[in-house]
Amino acid sequence: MADKTIIIGGGIIGLSLGWQLVRRGADVEILERSKAGKSSSWAAAGMLAPQAEMGFEDIELFYLCRKSLEMYPRFLEELYNDSCIKAEYDKCGAIMPAFDRDDSERIRRLFDFREKIGLPVQWLTGSEAREIEPYLSPKCTFAVWMPEDGQIDNRKLLETLRTAFINAGGKLYEDHLVERINIKNGKAIGVHIHGIDIEADKIIVCAGSWSKMIEGIPEEAQPPVRPVKGQAISLIMDDTCKVTHAVRAPDAYLVPKKDGRLIVGASVEEMGFDEKPTAGEIFRILERAWEAVPSIYDLKIQSIDVGLRPGSRDHEPIIGDSDIEGLYFATGHYRNGILLTPVTAYELAEWIISGNKSETLARFNISRFHKETVS
Ligand code: GLY
Repeated sequence: MADKTIIIGGGIIGLSLGWQLVRRGADVEILERSKAGKSSSWAAAGMLAPQAEMGFEDIELFYLCRKSLEMYPRFLEELYNDSCIKAEYDKCGAIMPAFDRDDSERIRRLFDFREKIGLPVQWLTGSEAREIEPYLSPKCTFAVWMPEDGQIDNRKLLETLRTAFINAGGKLYEDHLVERINIKNGKAIGVHIHGIDIEADKIIVCAGSWSKMIEGIPEEAQPPVRPVKGQAISLIMDDTCKVTHAVRAPDAYLVPKKDGRLIVGASVEEMGFDEKPTAGEIFRILERAWEAVPSIYDLKIQSIDVGLRPGSRDHEPIIGDSDIEGLYFATGHYRNGILLTPVTAYELAEWIISGNKSETLARFNISRFHKETVS
């Protein structure tokens, strides 16, 4: 009989990893505390925009994001084969506008850095930028154009992943809150749930912001992950405002969806597990988005969504094995969960099945936090 693997968490990371493991012959159960794919992965905007999101400091993370983006076409093709549902990757490009001197100096530095490391970026005047994206504000003075960035309908993607996982033979249990991971003699041996112990050979924590809250893992081995609240607004585009590219404004972004939604996000708040939308943040996001694309003003609001990004201490993901035999982590994806899905699923599934550590993931192991000392 194949080893049994339990995945804790049925968000985009848990579902995709589970699907890839099942595809490789593993016996996988996903235990989801609530409804699969209806938490942070649902609230996300689905940006596949490593260039638009990258700062200066996180170059290794950027390379991981870019590798994952390159894997997307294969990932979606396999998903379509297993689910018969199409989640299309829209390579719409991303535009980063500036509206004053401060903005333009800032984006010029970002542009120079991207150009230096050989990325396909273009520096545009305001009018050149409006030729690409006519709904940009006339106040846009300069912009950076990143033609290789894109976006995906993350909700459709979640539907495909759920279907593909189940079609491939995976078992998904919703409303199953894991209370404890059972560890004996340094080895993970199962989980405690609904008052009973379930045995497993391998356990993978993919519980996003909740990853640190599962009992049983000794404190020093817990993933240092906290929730970082993000509020976003779904607007319904009409003839007065039909944005067709991702717009990365200074303090807001706008991501158009093929079904006519325009996702406007997002706040970045340290509010613990508070998932309530607030007037102040929604006001602020809309104001910043309106400065970039004034014609959003009359669009109807479809929904306000709140997600809790799992932010690790250094804001990089935690992927790989741990000091506890049989216990793995795939969490802490912070602002890049949708983008990092293929690389996490392929590399970690291969590692778990073959036993050969992934070089790509080596830097993102939880052990990096164990080395932190005060000198
Ligand atoms: N990836 C965008 C965000 O986290 O808001």
